[in-house]
Amino acid sequence: YRRLRVALLGAGAVGSQVAALLRQHGDELADRSGARLELAGIAVRDVDAKRDVELPRELLTTDIEPLIVGSDIVIELMGGIEPARTHLLQAINSGADVVTANKALLATHGPEIFDAADQVGAQVYYEAAAAGAIPIIRPLRDSLAGDRVQRIMGIVNGTTNYILDRMDKEGSEFADVLADAQALGYAEADPTADIEGYDAAQKAAILASLAFHTAVPLDAVHREGITGIDKQMMDSARHAGYVIKLLAVCERLADVTDAAESISVRVYPALVHRDHPLASVHGANNAVFVEAEAAGDLMFYGAGAGGVQTASAVLGDVVSAARRHIAGGVGVGESTRANLPVVPIGHVTTRY
Ligand code: HSE
Repeated sequence: YRRLRVALLGAGAVGSQVAALLRQHGDELADRSGARLELAGIAVRDVDAKRDVELPRELLTTDIEPLIVGSDIVIELMGGIEPARTHLLQAINSGADVVTANKALLATHGPEIFDAADQVGAQVYYEAAAAGAIPIIRPLRDSLAGDRVQRIMGIVNGTTNYILDRMDKEGSEFADVLADAQALGYAEADPTADIEGYDAAQKAAILASLAFHTAVPLDAVHREGITGIDKQMMDSARHAGYVIKLLAVCERLADVTDAAESISVRVYPALVHRDHPLASVHGANNAVFVEAEAAGDLMFYGAGAGGVQTASAVLGDVVSAARRHIAGGVGVGESTRANLPVVPIGHVTTRY
């Protein structure tokens, strides 16, 4: 097999699992991709930090640039905007294909990163950036490329789904289950990102951009969190036959603006009818319900967070990147057309 040099930036919950799986399944991954994936190094902030997964000391480094230069595939799992953005651009400009799970970066600097990749013929893979282990990026970008997506309704934040589910099942109050949700380890470093809907808004911007072949800026996403939801609201919803879910709704709008077509992207606690498939998404799971013109309704369900689960999506991207290298750099291509206007609306439809 041809050897490909792989650099891993970040060894947190997802990164350390990616490193472990790359080493554990090296032979199988070589058979599948046609390339021997050689982990050249793992960039970390602190070489001596305690980790859940044991990683070979000699691979750990704090010196990122030399690791990036000369790598065929760079996996960015540092999270946050900087220095992740700088390193991702360095990787692209040094000729690597990149794999990232960085939703914050793609939601805010996506066009800059995709343009940089286009300029040099590199590819950006980001299956793990929205809804963790659930394959949703490729389905929207590739499988549904011949269809017209009308609407996406996603439960894309595990922490808030866990909280709302416990409130619904047990009649608990928000404050009483928040700590349990954090203890699960799925919450962002600052749980405000989860409970105020920022995390879901980033994922909504990414999904809407793919679904509608446009570039949705994060600040065009209407966002509300779940901190205002109390036991009484939950009870009222239940009596009426609904459950409250934090939804990311991305939809095509007709005849709302002067533009021929516009879209709306919004995150808010919505009433979901008990009969709707999204009502049975329990615990910290995620699901993305897609309504497409020809395909009809589709639902993608599974673990939206978790180290080893998200590592599955990252490794799928690594295999895709390796196959592309072996095939001589044939791109999978993104198709972004002129920006569609995003109409700033909130609760236009509160029941699904
Ligand atoms: N904080 C996120 C969640 C992690 O709870 O879903 C995955 O992006």
